[in-house]
Amino acid sequence: MLRPRRRGLRLAVPAIVLGAVLAAPGVAAAAPPHEADTSHRTDASLRQLADRHRLPIGTAADDAALTSDAAYREDITTEFSSVTAENVMKWESLEPERGQYDWAAADRLVETAEANGQQVRGHVLIWHSQLPDWLTENEASISTEEFREIVRNHIQTVVGRYKGRIAEWDVVNEAFSDTGGLRDSIFLRKLGPGYIADAFRWAHEADPKATLFYNDYSAEDVNRKSNEAYALIKDFVATGVPIDGFGMQAHHSANYAPTTMRENIQRFAALGLVTAVTEADVRMQLPVDGTKLQAQANVFSVLLSSCLAERSCISFTSWGFTDKYSWVPNTFEGQGAALFLDENLQAKPAYEAMRNDLLLTEPVRGKRGHGRG
Ligand code: G3I
Repeated sequence: MLRPRRRGLRLAVPAIVLGAVLAAPGVAAAAPPHEADTSHRTDASLRQLADRHRLPIGTAADDAALTSDAAYREDITTEFSSVTAENVMKWESLEPERGQYDWAAADRLVETAEANGQQVRGHVLIWHSQLPDWLTENEASISTEEFREIVRNHIQTVVGRYKGRIAEWDVVNEAFSDTGGLRDSIFLRKLGPGYIADAFRWAHEADPKATLFYNDYSAEDVNRKSNEAYALIKDFVATGVPIDGFGMQAHHSANYAPTTMRENIQRFAALGLVTAVTEADVRMQLPVDGTKLQAQANVFSVLLSSCLAERSCISFTSWGFTDKYSWVPNTFEGQGAALFLDENLQAKPAYEAMRNDLLLTEPVRGKRGHGRG
């Protein structure tokens, strides 16, 4: 049930335009067969509108907010067809003590998503951050062989537990540094650069049907970081490493919109890979004003419409949806307001911009959904 709070704000697209869009050939036929096509409603949610494109639209879910905030929970269900665990599937959360897994929060997220008919993006298997102390504090005393076994075991335990239930996994996250080359991490130091390919091999063994992603930030455009990822992934494809996707986190600021994102998506598609926008948000210098909100709406629109227009882009996820729980103010001093609902869960211009993109863009995904290449 939609709450009244946003009803008045959802009329940005005139009914006459809506009528024209929905009268276009093939539009009605594009609705998934199991669900009624509700995209003609002027109050349709992002989820309903994205269904017409066969594009899972998702958000990172904050475990504490899910537990304590009913309005937040309602919005997650109404607005999104995909969820990503913001923190509870990270290594420090799942295995705080060596050999002692705590699955409670991750299981809850997966079960809730399934009950709500949502897909789950798994985040994250190999990342240099949010690792358990027992691992990082014993770097020197753990042998290379033992470390390799720990990493293999972690990946296969986590992927294996959710086999068949997690559609997309971020297998390796942020392996490239901001200054070029592979990031100096515990994984690189202990295992050398081959850890990336091995992580994909181990994840694929544990769930051969999951779509396996390399994921990074500042990689939406064709630029140094995405070039380095492209070169590595091209080599993986040539040598049979089981990688399926390139994830673009898309943490942006309102004063910069990507300019070469579709070109970037297309070159990965030409390698046979899918892509996804995995962590979109668009921060701004506080205080908020109307100009910044419009600039933010424009950046969200570029991100979403770039994904919508390319069949190989198989999901669009924002890193949260309300400013109430965003990670941004804790990390970027003086910045915030990075999402499309404000702290009271009211729509900002970015929300309407995204709805308009979903309403007005011609669907490109056929009956089988996304396509590679
Ligand atoms: O674990 C403590 C918890 O016990 C305590 O109650 C709480 C109180 O503030 O702090 C908790 O830890 C915080 C954790 O989030 C869980 O809320 C950490 O201090 C905080 O640093 C951590 O931040 C997360 C950040 O990753 C860590 O790097 C953010 O929530 C999360 O949004 C962010 O997500 C990353 C993606 O995984 C990868 N890409 C970048 C993205 C943004 O940094």
